[in-house]
Amino acid sequence: MPGFFITGTDTGVGKTYVTLWLAELLKKEGLDIGVMKPISCGPQKENDALYLKRKLKLKDPINLINPIHLSLPLAPYPASQLQKKKLSLSPIFSAFHKLSNKHDCLLVEGIGGVMVPIKRDYLVADLIKDLGLPALVVARAGLGTINHTLLTVEALRKRKIRIAGIVLNGFKRKDLSERTNTEVIEELTGIPIMAKLKWQKR
Ligand SMILES: Nc1ncnc2c1ncn2[C@@H]1O[C@H](COP(=O)(O)OP(=O)(O)OP(=O)(O)O)[C@@H](O)[C@H]1O
Ligand SMILES: [Mg+2]
Repeated sequence: MPGFFITGTDTGVGKTYVTLWLAELLKKEGLDIGVMKPISCGPQKENDALYLKRKLKLKDPINLINPIHLSLPLAPYPASQLQKKKLSLSPIFSAFHKLSNKHDCLLVEGIGGVMVPIKRDYLVADLIKDLGLPALVVARAGLGTINHTLLTVEALRKRKIRIAGIVLNGFKRKDLSERTNTEVIEELTGIPIMAKLKWQKR
């Protein structure tokens, strides 16, 4: 099991939440799990990479878990343009190589959704393809998710990226569509809903 690329239908759908959930689940099965957030954008204070490193008590250096950090809270392409910083992707591939050799399974969290631009002519979907991992799609549980999930699946399939499963996240039992989405998405995509996660009150 080399790993999964945890992508989502949007930013804020629960990719980090699901990455932690899956890492903890696989750890209980006795696997040594590593994580990566190839690019983070926004304030460094407790970003996804630092959060996952802390929660999973990982010893890997932060520059391997998160090789590229951009300070502006934007997609990588506009963030690097505004910061006048030329993005080189080679640190991502070398960190990926090191961490996948070190761990049984590597969970790579994406950036926003699959069509987020990393460079002018390079999207998150291209990164998934180049890393060669199967994708796991995190989608919202409620109304609107059929459209977003089908668009994501179509973009991944167009690039011949294997989709391991879909996780529906954040069931609140308030939205009628939560009762029908699972069946409809499975029927229309042919992809199994791997898990349905409740919205956890804090
Ligand atoms: N099932 C859940 N129950 C409770 N809180 C959740 C759940 N899923 C996500 N959240 C919360 O919703 C917020 C957004 O989730 P998360 O950070 O995992 O999204 P993301 O897709 O990783 O976002 P980004 O695109 O910024 O990386 C976080 O505060 C997270 O703790
Ligand atoms: Mg995240």
